[in-house]
Amino acid sequence: MFSCFNRRGRRAERARSFAVLSACGAPATALLFCALAGSFSLAAYAQQPRTAKDGVYTDAQAKRGQTLYTDRCAQCHGATLGGDIAPPLVGDDFIGDWNTQTLADLVDKIKNTMPADDPGKLTERQSADIVAYILQVGKFPTGRAELPSDAAALKLITLPAPATPSRPASAVAGAPSFPAFGSVNDVMGGILFPSSNIIFDVQTKDPAKKVTGASTSDSSLTDRFADVYQGWMLVDIAAVALVESAPMLLTPGRRCENGKPVPVDRPDWIKFTQGLVEAGRTAYKASQSRNQDAVIEATNEVAESCLNCHRAYRDRRNIARCEVQ
Ligand code: HEC
Ligand code: HEC
Repeated sequence: MFSCFNRRGRRAERARSFAVLSACGAPATALLFCALAGSFSLAAYAQQPRTAKDGVYTDAQAKRGQTLYTDRCAQCHGATLGGDIAPPLVGDDFIGDWNTQTLADLVDKIKNTMPADDPGKLTERQSADIVAYILQVGKFPTGRAELPSDAAALKLITLPAPATPSRPASAVAGAPSFPAFGSVNDVMGGILFPSSNIIFDVQTKDPAKKVTGASTSDSSLTDRFADVYQGWMLVDIAAVALVESAPMLLTPGRRCENGKPVPVDRPDWIKFTQGLVEAGRTAYKASQSRNQDAVIEATNEVAESCLNCHRAYRDRRNIARCEVQ
């Protein structure tokens, strides 16, 4: 039952020590590499942070992007980028989705996950060209230099805040309410446990390797439809499930199996729930990078977020679950 924690496998440890290594702590060859990396990023940092309003692409580049867009994106995102069966790539909703990240993230999103039906084929250069076209249709001005395609330079460029804040978070007046139905254990077993295990599985299984679902006639639905959501998409949505489960942990009136109410107003309970949200976001971001080692690294944070709350509210001796000291 607790396999999720035991599965912080050796690869995760390795990933961790690699991170330490690349943080310039190691001798010999690593030092040489660090010296090079250091001077390189120094040059990049010499550039000023800019926004898309500062003329960050050229007309010729946007033209190249347009050709690619028409060929590979328009059928889903619409000829005018206004959205069709996929979300719009212009307008306040789009800007609102991306203005808290950098253009490096947007280029990565395109390079790693788009076109959704045939991802992983675009180069960095092509993805940056398409972003130039997205900026042009979004009425951002052209400039003298092209939008760079290297991550260090792109990280310095952001989208400005949208004119009108998108999607008000307030509840619709008169909306029905949804009181707690299951116990904390039910939420854990039904959502957090399976979702986090999908993420932990990346420690030992490369999501890019295709598996085909068993399809014998007497197999379960789970088996038969195993290849509907699979690969990286399955990891994406498992991470989303972790983030989205937070409100369930903060629903007043939910109880632990022992009948004790969830301490939804305790600062530490709220903090642990926020930790879960952060870990889910980290895992999502890692999954979107389509990089197995990045997800392995993120599993540390996910496991940590579970443990932090369990230590305080689940696994204490002599104090009932959900009970406050
Ligand atoms: C087969 C349909 C399809 C094609 C083709 C496609 N996309 Fe998408 N795209 C989607 C869907 C569905 C989403 C929403 C889910 C997601 O974010 O992954 C999406 C999301 C996006 C997003 C994030 C939007 C947001 O608001 O967060 C960007 C950017 C994007 N696509 C760019 C592109 C580009 C550039 C191309 C062409 C190279 C492309 N897409 C081709 C289906 C498609
Ligand atoms: C904000 C607090 C909190 C967070 C975050 C949290 N849990 Fe829990 N978890 C609990 C509590 C409290 C219980 C005991 C629930 C009960 O008795 O009804 C529990 C129980 C469980 C159980 C059932 C164990 C048993 O004894 O039957 C599993 C499995 C579980 N959690 C997995 C996870 C995983 C995986 C994560 C992280 C992705 C996580 N939990 C994050 C508070 C939390």
